[in-house]
Amino acid sequence: MSKQFAVIGHPIEQSRSPELHHAFAQKTGIDLHYSKRLAPLDGFEANIKEFFAQGGIGMNVTVPFKEQAFAQCHVLTERAKIAKAVNTLWMQDGQLHGDNTDGQGLVDAIQALNWNLDNTAILIIGAGGATRGVIYPLVQAGVKKIVIANRTLARAEQLVADLKDAVPQATLAAVSLEDLSGEFDLVINATSASLSGDALVLPETLQFKYAYEMAYGKPSSFLDQAKARGLPTSEGYGMLVGQAIESFSIWNGVKPALKDFL
Ligand code: ATR
Repeated sequence: MSKQFAVIGHPIEQSRSPELHHAFAQKTGIDLHYSKRLAPLDGFEANIKEFFAQGGIGMNVTVPFKEQAFAQCHVLTERAKIAKAVNTLWMQDGQLHGDNTDGQGLVDAIQALNWNLDNTAILIIGAGGATRGVIYPLVQAGVKKIVIANRTLARAEQLVADLKDAVPQATLAAVSLEDLSGEFDLVINATSASLSGDALVLPETLQFKYAYEMAYGKPSSFLDQAKARGLPTSEGYGMLVGQAIESFSIWNGVKPALKDFL
């Protein structure tokens, strides 16, 4: 029987993970089957137990279960501990292991665009789980300064307070959305504004070279403003593929090249 993998979420129908993992498997010659699992909101733990009891090898976890997955794991990677969220599960020696590949997926996607991260200053808009998950991998990739801007300033300040000891090589700071200004190499939109169709307004006093939108397949006022300035932009499909490749490589020991799947 082929190796069994799955993604678990609620909802789950929209997930692109099965097609991505089947494409990686085809490219690397690995025999696997990757399915979607819809768990009821109170049924996450029972569902993953059943999957691994039936011999499943690895699971991806998506909304709204990443924090529950973090809480269930016996063994966590450093980046998962810092993210306080897990998107990749596997069993080893009878213990549930968890990692978070979202941040490395973003780093790999940005590097595939040939946008430099080493010694850079970046602005991240948003202070939710999506931002928390990417700070440590961005600093590992050489980012020296990260400013987190959020509609609710207190949330950005809390995130900076929580994470500053985890990334001593970098400077972290919080600002409110109204006070956006200054010069950055890269601006990342990690808010859910595009998903809900809301506009973000970037003032002219905010200067930057590149713009990355974590969402994909939705109109983005954030990217529209960067494009109007003639800047290079990307939406988040590369990050989605990048996190999937990183999970695949943890489970299968082979890392397909991101550029082959963009
Ligand atoms: P996720 O886990 O995807 O990060 P989240 O924790 O719900 O989701 O966080 C959503 C982020 O998008 C928050 O930073 C939120 O700002 P607040 O903390 O002020 O709520 C931000 N956000 C959502 N809609 C927004 C909008 N219309 N304008 C600006 N920021 C928005």
